[in-house]
Amino acid sequence: MKIISLETVDSTNEYLKRGNRKPITVVTANHQTGGKGRRGKKWISPPGKGLYVSFLFEKPKNFLNVQTVSLSTAVAVAKTLNTLKKGFEIKWPNDILFNGKKVCGILPELSGNRIVVGIGVNLYHSREELKETDYPATSLKIEKIHFDRETLTISLVKNVINYFDKTAKGTFEIKEFESLSIIKPGNRITVKKQNGIEKVTVLGIDREGYLIVEKDGKVERLFSAEISIRF
Ligand code: BTN
Repeated sequence: MKIISLETVDSTNEYLKRGNRKPITVVTANHQTGGKGRRGKKWISPPGKGLYVSFLFEKPKNFLNVQTVSLSTAVAVAKTLNTLKKGFEIKWPNDILFNGKKVCGILPELSGNRIVVGIGVNLYHSREELKETDYPATSLKIEKIHFDRETLTISLVKNVINYFDKTAKGTFEIKEFESLSIIKPGNRITVKKQNGIEKVTVLGIDREGYLIVEKDGKVERLFSAEISIRF
């Protein structure tokens, strides 16, 4: 495993997708000029304010889909943050919330026979710096959660690699995700898709990471890349 620390980069995900580096490579940056979020959005990445880190993994042999990596990475991140203070939860597929506000986002991408997993944690952002987001957002500083940046980074890297390994071996258990998930079976949620908005009832999550929902007696499997969810 190799760790590269950069001062400034466009996006740590793009950096790993460009080079022909060996898995496992981990890249952190102090500043991203073109930080990317899910569904083509920007990830606000001012210098020194966030933890911006990406992992380059080999695509496992029995790889199901990128969604399973999303879910297990979310568990790794939530568990890491919960050692600082209890109360971090996951909003399917991979937003990490504290007090109902987003504090971390995860962006897994396929790149040939590699998988790049990017994680952004809001550490020192002020409310002002997060006001552009179209969802409630927060940072560890706003929530008055104490942490040591180095220690947090090291334990996050260890846990993410450990959980990727579980996914690769097929030993990751979806119930670990369910116990941290704010979306529970029976919840009514609003789903925003490319072609509109609909209200559905949650049935559960299957082993491929799809959210199973029901609407008017019809069961649907939702793929994470295409949708956003509101309560
Ligand atoms: C989301 O929209 O929730 C996903 C955000 C992912 C942000 C991280 S920051 C490190 C890595 N590099 C990027 O450009 N994006 C991810």
